[in-house]
Amino acid sequence: MQFEYQNPTHLIFGAGSLARLGEMAAAHGKRALLVTGGGSVKRNGTFDRALSSLADAGVAVSVCDGVEPNPRLATVKRGAALAREQDCDLVIALGGGSVMDAAKVMAAAVFYEGDPWDMIYHGQPEPYVPTRALPLVTVPTLAATGSEMNCGAVITNEGTTEKSFVQAACMYPKVALLDPELTTSVPKDQTAYGVCDLITHITEGYFNGAGNTPIQDRFAEGVILTAMEYAPKAIANGNDLDARSQIQWAATVALNGWIQSGSGSVGFPVHMIEHTVSAYHDIAHAAGLAILNPAWMRFAARRNPAKFVQFAERLFGLPGKGSDDLECALAGIDRFEAFLKAIGCPTRFSDLGIDGSLVETYARETLRIMHDENGQLPAIPPLSEADIVEVLRAAL
Ligand code: NZQ
Ligand code: ZN
Repeated sequence: MQFEYQNPTHLIFGAGSLARLGEMAAAHGKRALLVTGGGSVKRNGTFDRALSSLADAGVAVSVCDGVEPNPRLATVKRGAALAREQDCDLVIALGGGSVMDAAKVMAAAVFYEGDPWDMIYHGQPEPYVPTRALPLVTVPTLAATGSEMNCGAVITNEGTTEKSFVQAACMYPKVALLDPELTTSVPKDQTAYGVCDLITHITEGYFNGAGNTPIQDRFAEGVILTAMEYAPKAIANGNDLDARSQIQWAATVALNGWIQSGSGSVGFPVHMIEHTVSAYHDIAHAAGLAILNPAWMRFAARRNPAKFVQFAERLFGLPGKGSDDLECALAGIDRFEAFLKAIGCPTRFSDLGIDGSLVETYARETLRIMHDENGQLPAIPPLSEADIVEVLRAAL
């Protein structure tokens, strides 16, 4: 086992932490670009509380609101232009993953004369990896993506129907302020999607890793089990602060690099396929994952059931007869899918009104954006275009 791990983000966790926004922002800048979404933070009072904490600390604010779910390139450009115009020296993201991702790319785009799309990995031979960005403070209002404490961002190019990612060390937030009280207003469907997203971040590493990673496996299983225990509580009662806290912490650790470190994970195939489908249909990211992940799991388990048997045994207490017990592996996947359905996630594309007419296009586009030296999508096993089509068809 060989790996390196470094995550420079200063994490502050706990109900009421929003009050420390001004103090944390003032440590990194004097004039902030405050990035928000479509209005939830204004309706629930979070925005005003953030403004007042910033004013108390003497931090001036320029507001870039209206970041849409599946944030668009035009929005990134608008925010970067505003930050330049207003001489901002700091970016604050107050919202879900879409707001945080858009804010990250705005923070880097301020220093880049070209098109920010150059930074997003979309199959170009030499993506431009930014090395400089304004300091960023993230205040997530939805537990899902883990964007608050990682260096990735996912952007949609509405002009070319592409959705893809950038990862750059300069985009690590300086501070992530996690106040689970801010997530109590998240509606039931988005709460369920968030849980599905965080679990999928973990399963991608768990099932596409090198094997013989007992510590990483136990981390992964522990976080998934905790998320599965608390999700129904948060959905039944949005104000259950304990449940909201556990889920928010789970979402952050699921994608801050810790669980993946040392797992030898080769790829994020379900995410790569989902991003393409999202580019075409503008669906909620984890609604797409809930549909695709079980379909991909069945595909991969039929090729090699061993890790799926472990998943079935340890998460659902299903006794496996050995590491090649496909029946047990598939039963575990069925139980996982039933959990997703029970918390309110869609589990077939037909639930979202998406038919199979474009499956070949999704497969081709996914591979155009990401492929290994054999032209296949990195995963265990690697996926050819025909394999991706098979997974997509099983999800219809
Ligand atoms: O826009 P507002 O009005 O704020 O409403 C949002 C939005 O409609 C709402 N919401 C957020 N906080 C709320 C709330 N509603 C009520 N109360 C609150 N406290 O929820 C809706 C969805 O928000 P969004 O930010 O789109 O959701 P999420 O956090 O799931 O982010 C999804 C985006 O992140 C990307 C996805 O692809 C997608 O574009 N991802 C980013 C990753 C990363 N940077 O590491 C990894 C992920 O795998 C993912 O790909
Ligand atoms: Zn995700």
